[in-house]
Amino acid sequence: MKTVGIGIIGGGLMGREMASAFMRWCALADVDVKPELVAVADLVEPVREWFRCIPSCEQITANYNELLANPKVDVVYVAVPHNLHETIYLDVLKAGKDLFAEKPFGIDLGSAQRIRDAGLSSGRFVRCSSEFPFFPGAQRVIEAATSGKLGRVLQVVSGFHHSSDLDATKPANWKRFSRTCGEIGVLGDLGMHACHIPLRLGWKPTRLFAQLQKGYPERPDGKGGMTPCDTWDNAMLHCWTTIHGDEVPMRLEMKRLAPGETNTWFIEVLGTNGGARYSTKEPKTLWLFEGGKEQYWKRTDLGFGMPFKAVTGGIFEPGFPDLMQQMWAAYLMEREGKLASRFGCATPDEAVDTQQIFAAALESQRTQQVVSLP
Ligand SMILES: NC(=O)c1ccc[n+]([C@@H]2O[C@H](COP(=O)([O-])OP(=O)(O)OC[C@H]3O[C@@H](n4cnc5c(N)ncnc54)[C@H](O)[C@@H]3O)[C@@H](O)[C@H]2O)c1
Repeated sequence: MKTVGIGIIGGGLMGREMASAFMRWCALADVDVKPELVAVADLVEPVREWFRCIPSCEQITANYNELLANPKVDVVYVAVPHNLHETIYLDVLKAGKDLFAEKPFGIDLGSAQRIRDAGLSSGRFVRCSSEFPFFPGAQRVIEAATSGKLGRVLQVVSGFHHSSDLDATKPANWKRFSRTCGEIGVLGDLGMHACHIPLRLGWKPTRLFAQLQKGYPERPDGKGGMTPCDTWDNAMLHCWTTIHGDEVPMRLEMKRLAPGETNTWFIEVLGTNGGARYSTKEPKTLWLFEGGKEQYWKRTDLGFGMPFKAVTGGIFEPGFPDLMQQMWAAYLMEREGKLASRFGCATPDEAVDTQQIFAAALESQRTQQVVSLP
């Protein structure tokens, strides 16, 4: 099995999640490439120290330029606040490394376009993180949507809800400020998750009306005081898209203030003859609609039918850490030219498309008008 050296810049929430996915790579049964974490860079010492539990991670540094100079690093995964995306992503490409970028791929549309263009001119392999389509249920919704069996599509709903910001006593972090999270706020935070499958299916919005909502105007600053918070926390995008020549309503929902939701990603496609619905509330369950004289919603439990086979028994349910591993398998296999017909990670063009949606949403909110997209 070919080994690929990985460097991680930003070892926080996501950096550690990815590192742990590499450590149980033996769970995958049909990949012929293996990631090996060789270096990590993070500004915070306790964050760096955690990586000492990974024997292959020989370089632990506060200076990401040292990591970029390491010849053992082939691919760099970057998980830092959004205001740092552009500088660090461009530095990765300049260093001649392949890039696995975190969403939203820059702090705004201009930034995403510059990153996409730099990736193209560098010739490096660049993809953007988006793991939820790797759930078997999500794959089956894609299969249903492309099967031609749904008839005329009547409606699409795709979204991501959580509620961790409902707690007003939770101290502010970088995701609460436009200067670090971006003016796009929750759109940048959760938007790729809602947009990825519709975009992959060719269902880019042609125009949209946005309802954006802010949460708490201030939060504890973690030092005994309060600090102002200015990002959008909830977004409802009421879109039109075109499917087989028909205009179809599509709703994209992103919420950090969704009462009762911990981490709920969902997609629903309804047509005149059939439909498909999947939500991570029931991670192994798929709902399929069948039209006719009598109409049925059929429910089936899919088990562990992941795109990349694993040693995990077929009846077991998949979870978030499995998705990370599947997404990395797709990144590494596509990089080797061996993805075949399996689902690939979000492309730079798809990431730019998400940012066009977010920019249109900001304009719609500002003008209270329907906004057309390019
Ligand atoms: N795919 C997903 O499901 C998912 C989930 C959460 C976050 N994210 C994305 O991941 C990225 C990071 O989010 P997070 O929640 O992991 O943030 P985090 O705050 O937990 O971690 C960010 C880390 O970056 C480090 N950092 C900051 N500046 C740095 C620098 N110059 N050099 C090296 N390290 C630096 C910080 O010290 C911190 O440890 C964001 O783009 C976010 O949108 C993706």
